[in-house]
Amino acid sequence: MSKLQAIYLKDYKKPEFSIKDVELVFDLYEEETIVTNIMNIKKESDSAKEIVLDSIDLELKELWLNDVKLGESHYSYVDEKLTISDVPAAFRLKIINKIYPQNNTELEGLYKSGSIFCTQNEPEGFRRITPYLDRPDVMSVFRTTVIADRKKYPILLSNGNKTQCHDSFDERHGVTWFDPHPKPSYLFALVAGDLGSVNDEFTTASGEHVELNIYCDLGNESKCSHAMKSLKEAMTWDEEKYGREYDLEIYNIVAVDSFNMGAMENKGLNIFNSHYVLADEDTASDMNFMGIQSVIAHEYFHNWTGNRITCRDWFQLTLKEGLTVFRDQSFSADLNSREVQRIEDVKGLRERQFVEDASPTAHPIQPESYISMNNFYTSTVYEKGAEVIRMIHTLLGEENYRKATDLYFESFDGQAVTTNDFLWAMGEASKVNGEAREDALGYGIDLSAFELWYHQSGTPKIHVQEDYYNNTFTLSLTQKVPNAVDGSEQKPYFFPLKIALIDEDGNDILEKTLIVSKETEEFVFDDINTKPTLSVNRDFSAPIIIEQDDNDYSFLMKHDKNSFVRYESAQSFAVETLEAIMNGEEIDEEFVAAFGYLLDLDVDLSYKALLLELPTISTLMQRQKVIDFEPIYEAKEKLAKYLATTYKEKLLTLYTTNHKPLNQDIDSLSMGERALKNRSLRLLSALESDEIIDLVSKQYSSSLTMTDRVVALDILENITELLSEMALSDFYSKYRDDTLVMNKYFSTLSASEREGTLERVIALQDDEVYDEKVPNLVRSLIGVFARNYKHFHAKDGNGYKFLADKIIEIDTINPQMASGLCAAFKIYEKLNETNRMMMKGELERVVSTQSLSKNVYEIVSKILKIN
Ligand code: PHE
Ligand code: ZN
Repeated sequence: MSKLQAIYLKDYKKPEFSIKDVELVFDLYEEETIVTNIMNIKKESDSAKEIVLDSIDLELKELWLNDVKLGESHYSYVDEKLTISDVPAAFRLKIINKIYPQNNTELEGLYKSGSIFCTQNEPEGFRRITPYLDRPDVMSVFRTTVIADRKKYPILLSNGNKTQCHDSFDERHGVTWFDPHPKPSYLFALVAGDLGSVNDEFTTASGEHVELNIYCDLGNESKCSHAMKSLKEAMTWDEEKYGREYDLEIYNIVAVDSFNMGAMENKGLNIFNSHYVLADEDTASDMNFMGIQSVIAHEYFHNWTGNRITCRDWFQLTLKEGLTVFRDQSFSADLNSREVQRIEDVKGLRERQFVEDASPTAHPIQPESYISMNNFYTSTVYEKGAEVIRMIHTLLGEENYRKATDLYFESFDGQAVTTNDFLWAMGEASKVNGEAREDALGYGIDLSAFELWYHQSGTPKIHVQEDYYNNTFTLSLTQKVPNAVDGSEQKPYFFPLKIALIDEDGNDILEKTLIVSKETEEFVFDDINTKPTLSVNRDFSAPIIIEQDDNDYSFLMKHDKNSFVRYESAQSFAVETLEAIMNGEEIDEEFVAAFGYLLDLDVDLSYKALLLELPTISTLMQRQKVIDFEPIYEAKEKLAKYLATTYKEKLLTLYTTNHKPLNQDIDSLSMGERALKNRSLRLLSALESDEIIDLVSKQYSSSLTMTDRVVALDILENITELLSEMALSDFYSKYRDDTLVMNKYFSTLSASEREGTLERVIALQDDEVYDEKVPNLVRSLIGVFARNYKHFHAKDGNGYKFLADKIIEIDTINPQMASGLCAAFKIYEKLNETNRMMMKGELERVVSTQSLSKNVYEIVSKILKIN
């Protein structure tokens, strides 16, 4: 089957043709859209005779080469390729074709979200609009005219600056846009609709004036202000931190309800999932506000890391994504709490990336092959990619990192490049007179050793041994690097490991960033006069798993000055305690005492809320050789109940002092208060007492923030059937017309641990509000259910069967959505026998489905190890 052929990085060849400029005209109608595409094409290789354009499901109307109409003998259209024979050295190609955006449920190319025409072209959607050299290393200047019904589509947008309005076509009208920056086709965008907007402006550091617009469905304008504020913050930050200014007269953002991913950085015309734009105090949670700030910034930052400098081919995806995630994480850390941001980033990495990295779908941040590129927008490419950039930042130091990024922008602006080009810039800037620099850390930095992070998969484990004798502290490290998915051996990594030695009062005796580069290493510290406690992988300086023989978590929980290691120690101690419970042991009172100490701590409230969080099911699961969820649930329940009983008064005090139901502010103190008192409430809810249930109900009915209401709803749903039904129906009647809020309704029900969850999820599919064509709704109902370990992994196998059915069904509508849902099957191999056999049956059923998409095929066949 040709469509299942893998594409390999090693087969990369330069394009044989370049496209100097493109002129596009879109005639949008309800039944069809007519695209006229005029390209000025140049041969780049003498041997090229024919040009092969990418083209999927297009109805060709006319082809013209230099004003000569081509007959069918001059071209062929097979297997998603339009081949035109005997083309000259330079020529003008005009193509007229028809598409049907109103029937496009894949949401790739030109499609309709409700009544709005919009596009999504990364990575390979443009070939569903018009025939093209649809690859990122073909960069061209685009002029686009959009014509549509004046009443239905008053707003017509594309990339770049607006150059002309065409008002003369009676009930239809048109607008022409011109983008002077050459760009690959994946950054092309078009929007047409009857949209509301908020408008603002920004003046760049060099005095250029930029018009800022955020478009949304009419009536939602008041929900755009947080996004606008975030955009301006991002623009200022990029000027200050990276010296990068915006480069067009207009920056447009459009929010749409049907979108496969979070958002897209199209040049001058970002298209966003409305989830990452719309928010107000009544309908959005604190987490939503934070998410908007970071995604708005992420897409803005792509203007330099992605658009001005783009990827040579899709294997280089981390070049733009790893770097841009690192940039948005740094931005959020600068604007909010650095310590909380770092912990949240690491939590995310471990929950998603570590799981992926331990599965048969593990891949390097720069993969070597793919079947469907859509499957490689992974947490490995994004989040691990960001960790790799962070390590470079640590190795170079702030000042040299800035020199290095300046050099990167200077050297490659306007080009499509590789991760090696990026590493070259990083290495150059760290040299003095052409030699590896003796840097501030005291090590010469050779980034070539660092390159392995781009080409190997799996999370390395670092075994740590300590020895203290005669005032000398010796640290011995052993790296265990897992084999690649194909069984081949992999080499030890080069990474920075930030450590400290702490005295008995909790003060740092020393803090140092060690460079680890070999399988075994020994670091000796002299003149250490008292036996120190080791604080290791401070700030999570490398994305590794630490295994320690000796540890004093209780001491570090209390005394470590590094906020990350302090958090980490609390987590590790809780994990140890929970695992002991799972082994039938008593609850460790030393942990309980240390937890009590945390309750009294006077630290940032959001940080404190994190310190008090018990390890997630996923954290515990990842440590099991053979996964079984029940013992994990039981142990967690037992420990939570014990802590809640022991510290009931303290928790209640934390709750009442921080519960301010009328406060809707989203400054960091207000968010911190909510985070902490909701953490306390969740812990208290383990008591399932009337007193606590009463508190929760009151919070639901009296609080003005969505954060508080969703927490209350979730607790009620899990502990009291009656009250939960009342609260849920109240919530439903209030918000049924707001699809973003309804996502919270669906996910609360799908995540429920109560009996009968699967039955309720099945029934909810018939709810008027639910729509299988809208990815956000599918993610909140089906996607969340697949992460509900209790019910998804139920021993009757019904959870698996349900998900498999949904994957098969949704695959016919939207393959990208369907393959996303397969993530829940990635732990297949590590499951206990009963669950594994049941899951196997379902996976086999999926993979043998007729006309399965290559997206789903690629993931499921990897999980099952079918070659
Ligand atoms: N490039 C987008 C981002 O990370 C993600 C995306 C990929 C969106 C593919 C849509 C399709 O910002
Ligand atoms: Zn991105």
